[in-house]
This record gives sequence, C-alpha cells and structure tokens, in this order.
Amino acid sequence: MSEVTSHSKIPPLGQGELLAPDYTVVAPLHRSRILDAYEVWSEERACSCVAKVLRPDCIENRRARASLLREGRILKQLAHPHIVRAYDAFEQPQPIVILESLPGYTLLYLIALHQRRRMALNNIVFLGLHLCSAMHYLHRHGLLHLDLKPSNIVSNLGVAKVLDLNLARPPGRGRRDTGTPAYMAPEQVRGDLFSEATDVWGIGAVLFHAATGRPPFFEPEASRKYQQLERRADSVRAHRRVPAFFATTVDRCLDPDPSQRPTVDELAELLNGLAQRQS
Ligand SMILES: Nc1ncnc2c1ncn2[C@@H]1O[C@H](COP(=O)(O)OP(=O)(O)O)[C@@H](O)[C@H]1O
Ligand SMILES: [Mg+2]
Repeated sequence: MSEVTSHSKIPPLGQGELLAPDYTVVAPLHRSRILDAYEVWSEERACSCVAKVLRPDCIENRRARASLLREGRILKQLAHPHIVRAYDAFEQPQPIVILESLPGYTLLYLIALHQRRRMALNNIVFLGLHLCSAMHYLHRHGLLHLDLKPSNIVSNLGVAKVLDLNLARPPGRGRRDTGTPAYMAPEQVRGDLFSEATDVWGIGAVLFHAATGRPPFFEPEASRKYQQLERRADSVRAHRRVPAFFATTVDRCLDPDPSQRPTVDELAELLNGLAQRQS
C-alpha cells in the first residue's frame, strides 16, 4: 500500500483530541479532497471555533499548505458582515486557520431541505444582495473568490455569510480548472482571464441553484467535456416559474461572455429593485 493510500485512510481526530496547542476537537465537521474542518474548543477564548487544517495525507502538499496559509492571512485582514471572520492562523506545528463558528446551515443543506417546496424568491433575492455586498468588498480588496457555491455559504435566519477563500486571488490570467466543476465560469474551465465578472457568474450559479434546486451545469463525467463550454445555461424559467425580471437577471450573470454580465454593483441594483417589488 502506498504512503498516500495508507494516510488517506487516517480518520479525522475524535472528540477530546488535541488538534493544536489550545485547540481541542469538539467534532469533525467536514473532510474535502485536501482539508479537514473541525469544530474545536479554544482555551484562549473559552468558546467553540472552526479549525481548517490539511488532511493527514496532504500535510506534505506544498501548494495546499501555501493555499491554506494564504486563506488564513486573507481572512484575518477582512471584516465584513457577509464574510466569515478568521480569529487566527498559524503555521506550526501544522498550518491551521481558526474561524468564528457560524450558526445556521450551509445553503446546500437548505436547498436540499426545500427540494419539495422551493426556496421563496424573496429569500433568494436577499441571498443575492448579501453575496453582492461580500463580493463588492472582496473586490475592493483586490481579490476574487472564484469558488462561490452553496456549500461555501452559510445562512442563518436569512443572513448569508461566504466561506472558503481557499482559491481567492487577484484578477488576471488563471490556471485551467480553477474552482468547482458545476459552478465554474467558462474562463475558469479554460484558464483565461479571471475578473470580477467571474464572481458574478458564481453569484448567478448560486442563485440558479437556490431557485431551481439544481446547479446550472452538472459535473462532467470522466473524459466528457464541460457543458459550460458547449452551451449556455438554461434559463431559470426552464425549471421554475419565476418573474421574467428575476430570470433575466440570473440568466445575464451566466452569460458565457464575461463582458456581457452585469457588474457586481449593477447586479445589486437589479436585486434591490426586485426586493422592493416583492415587499
Ligand atoms: N466558520 C464555519 N462555521 C460553520 N461551519 C463551517 C465554517 N467553516 C466551514 N464550515 C463547514 O465546513 C465545510 C468545509 O469548509 P470549507 O471552508 O468550505 O472547506 P473546504 O476548502 O474543504 O471546502 C463547509 O461547507 C461548512 O459546512
Ligand atoms: Mg468549501
């Protein structure tokens, strides 16, 4: 058995185990391809926090290590009501990012909960406004998120917060396949120019998923081409009867040509108009 295979079988730590000095595991929260997230008890703050660390089989992965440390550095500098706060980030004894523990549920969970009776349009419009506010701020700080999707958003009593700045970077030409396949803009698939418009696509993809219960494109099966390179996204209206103005707004975010998408501020204005119509 290879080193990697044996490591990848290492389960996450359990309740009461020490993750790092001063941080005891309350419960494992999530395991992704590269990272583990834990609910931890902070001795310093005497409260629960969330810790992001490298999976045991990725401890030696230099790129993953650098990304996690960068995520911690970025989050520590940001302070916004719709972006998760980082309390701390350190490199030794292992790279770790300590986040505020957000109450509520991921949007992915909430969408699944609403599978039968779809999410109310009013809530989706406010979700969009919160995402626009977060992206406006992030972009003002010279960064793009590049991984907006329902599992990277936590919502509590109608207030959405964006998580996971692991892929955040300044605008410019990017690497091919940056992001999560079902939510990637065509320029992320190809490795073209990443810009603020790339996050507008991300907001559109989240709103499409929240409104219709499915992402705009499905993850390509092995060796199949990405659908977003082959066709436009369906209109929201192909999956749910919604006011034309809402559908057009989301459809415009998912334009394959970044220059045709609304800017974040234009999108916020369109959504504000919708919020006023709804009330
Ligand atoms: N601050 C937090 N509060 C509550 N849950 C969180 C928090 N951070 C992460 N999570 C949970 O852990 C999951 C993985 O975290 P995320 O930052 O998206 O890591 P990854 O880069 O592995 O995707 C999220 O989808 C969410 O369910
Ligand atoms: Mg994530």
